[in-house]
Amino acid sequence: MDKKKIIELINVHKTFGQKVVHNGLDLDIFEGEKITVLGGSGSGKSVLLKEINGLLSPDSGKVVIDGRDITTMPESELINVRKNIGMLFQGSALFDSLPVWDNVAYTLVENSSLSKEEIDKVVKKKLALVGLPDIEDKMPGDLSGGMKKRVGLARALAKTPKILLYDEPTTGLDPPNIIRINDLIIDMNKKFNITSVIITHDIESAFAVSDRIAFLHDGKIVFVGSVEDAKITDNKELHNFINGVMEEELQFA
Ligand SMILES: Nc1ncnc2c1ncn2[C@@H]1O[C@H](COP(=O)(O)OP(=O)(O)O)[C@@H](O)[C@H]1O
Ligand SMILES: [Mg+2]
Repeated sequence: MDKKKIIELINVHKTFGQKVVHNGLDLDIFEGEKITVLGGSGSGKSVLLKEINGLLSPDSGKVVIDGRDITTMPESELINVRKNIGMLFQGSALFDSLPVWDNVAYTLVENSSLSKEEIDKVVKKKLALVGLPDIEDKMPGDLSGGMKKRVGLARALAKTPKILLYDEPTTGLDPPNIIRINDLIIDMNKKFNITSVIITHDIESAFAVSDRIAFLHDGKIVFVGSVEDAKITDNKELHNFINGVMEEELQFA
């Protein structure tokens, strides 16, 4: 694995009112890897992704993207950093009143000087990449949950990002669609060497796609290691998290 650090979170603190979300969080992410951050509901996973793309700023500590500290960066420069970061939002977050074409084209129309014909080419190419050719005229309401996620992924890929952030990509999907999304995450990473940061509480998916697993607990990353290391960890919280969720899944299976 290429060992160049592309994302560094250094001693990050973030509090909302009384709620301490990040309490001295450290994490290094390397170029081209697929890393999954596991953590319970409300543990601060989505906040972590928002700190990485500069939508939220830590109270203290640093977020460094490709060698540049974004915590002190003016919005005008942050826009350039964000061009290299795609995000698949929790629940896809498509604009329901706009056709698929407009949803995928959105970031290109807003932030680039491409002509309509050029944008159209990109939109068709990205939809083909996620296995959904010829649906650009459909409305989001006509699509299944799995298809919406894939359109969200096509949108996240529109700018050919170096970093792709996935917020709960498999939540709410049925098993065939979970497998399809997992395969796409692996595929996009392989084809374009996209650094992939996935946050989820879906342990099976995390194990299926990740090079490394990180575990967020009590505002800190308390474990980072390979999938194999995670499975046999002696970190009590991660062990309980993995086994607790597995047990719950067995109960409802
Ligand atoms: N913009 C915000 N304002 C106030 N509280 C927030 C905000 N964003 C997140 N929180 C709180 O921070 C905690 C972590 O949220 P989040 O990162 O969304 O959790 P999760 O790990 O489930 O993704 C939660 O208690 C949430 O209510
Ligand atoms: Mg979340």
